[in-house]
Amino acid sequence: MIFQNTLEFARELDAKDALREFRHRFFIPQHDGRDCVYFTGNSLGLQPKTTSQYVQQELDDWASMGVEGHFQAKNPWMPYHEIFPKQLSTIVGCKENEVVVMNSLTVNLHLLMVSFYRPTKERYKIICEAKAFPSDQYALETQVRFHGFDPGDAIVEVKPREGEHSIRMEDVLSTIQQYNQSTALVLFGGVNYYTGQLFDIKAITDAAHAAGAYAGFDLAHAAGNVELHLHDWNVDFACWCSYKYLNSGPGGVAGVYINERHAANTSLPRFAGWWGYTKETRFKMEKGFRAIPTAEGWQLSNAPVLSMAAHKASLDIFEEAGMERLHAKRKQLAAYLHFILNDINLSQNEKVIEVITPANENERGCQVSMLMQKDGKKIFDELTKQGVIADWREPNVIRVAPVPLYNSFQDIYRFGNFISSLTN
Ligand SMILES: Cc1ncc(COP(=O)(O)O)c(C=O)c1O
Repeated sequence: MIFQNTLEFARELDAKDALREFRHRFFIPQHDGRDCVYFTGNSLGLQPKTTSQYVQQELDDWASMGVEGHFQAKNPWMPYHEIFPKQLSTIVGCKENEVVVMNSLTVNLHLLMVSFYRPTKERYKIICEAKAFPSDQYALETQVRFHGFDPGDAIVEVKPREGEHSIRMEDVLSTIQQYNQSTALVLFGGVNYYTGQLFDIKAITDAAHAAGAYAGFDLAHAAGNVELHLHDWNVDFACWCSYKYLNSGPGGVAGVYINERHAANTSLPRFAGWWGYTKETRFKMEKGFRAIPTAEGWQLSNAPVLSMAAHKASLDIFEEAGMERLHAKRKQLAAYLHFILNDINLSQNEKVIEVITPANENERGCQVSMLMQKDGKKIFDELTKQGVIADWREPNVIRVAPVPLYNSFQDIYRFGNFISSLTN
């Protein structure tokens, strides 16, 4: 499609957008009586207008039934988490027995490493991306130390080459090959939080397996954003949060995928709790942990129902919108934003913005990271004053993420207009 940097053109794209009505299902923050340009769905997704009803239902059942709600509530709390696998398996591409909703992201990363990072004297390294999200870095560092290894030796980071921003897949694969005798785990983000680079999850998984290591992924910036086929790609495990692209509220309950060949292996080491115990006999309260032979076998605690209700509100919207339509619109939104930023550079006869997110649509999701060539922070602050909600990362990066459920092509046009006037 040939894009144009005009309001009429953006309006035309919105008029043709099959998902345009979904915007009205969300509360859009306001500025001076107008919708903000909300481009931080990669940080905290917006609140669906139905969320309060879903949460209220559980509050009402709690008020009227007390503990009986575990069995008598409209959505009984005891098996509440069982409502998620069907919808989530479509979003992350897996079987229903491979996915479970529990805890929060970093907690789950640790729990999964208990099972999948079991280093020996010979095989103890973790290969990861440089500039992984800090919480992941701390999780890796402390897991390595916990097992008595030195993070400086055990953690191998794959970096972008000098003068480049993305990590080349050939460098990821050659690093895995280089350490194929000593690597226990390859752990990458699906999409890097800083650059927005989408990694080739299948190729990384294949390379890790060829090296005799497990492959795990932090999908915080990928779940609900990019196409995922975790089962078909044979990924060992993955985890993600629900408050970014999945719009389930601040600190919302998180998701975990465990390939069924591991999930069915009830002897795989783990840190257990009663909610992972075989359901039929859980309430006999006997000694000796017996795991559920699915991803549910990693659960520790009973379901945080209020947070799960908010998650359900959002997943119902995802189901209605459909992943195929969401991916098609997401690609078009990102392409339009890339076009507009390029148009700003061209019209100003100098590169005022360097887009550090890959130009190839197969190597990115919604997010576009802009390395501002000058006055980055000043421009960012001014954007905020004008009602653009974006995200600032030191030293000079503005991250924006138009998401297909509630962003419009006019949002992108308006954003471009602001950037154009602020960089002139
Ligand atoms: C890639 C990534 N990993 C981990 C985290 C930490 O998540 P949580 O605070 O939910 O554990 C975040 C938070 O934004 C993230 O983006």
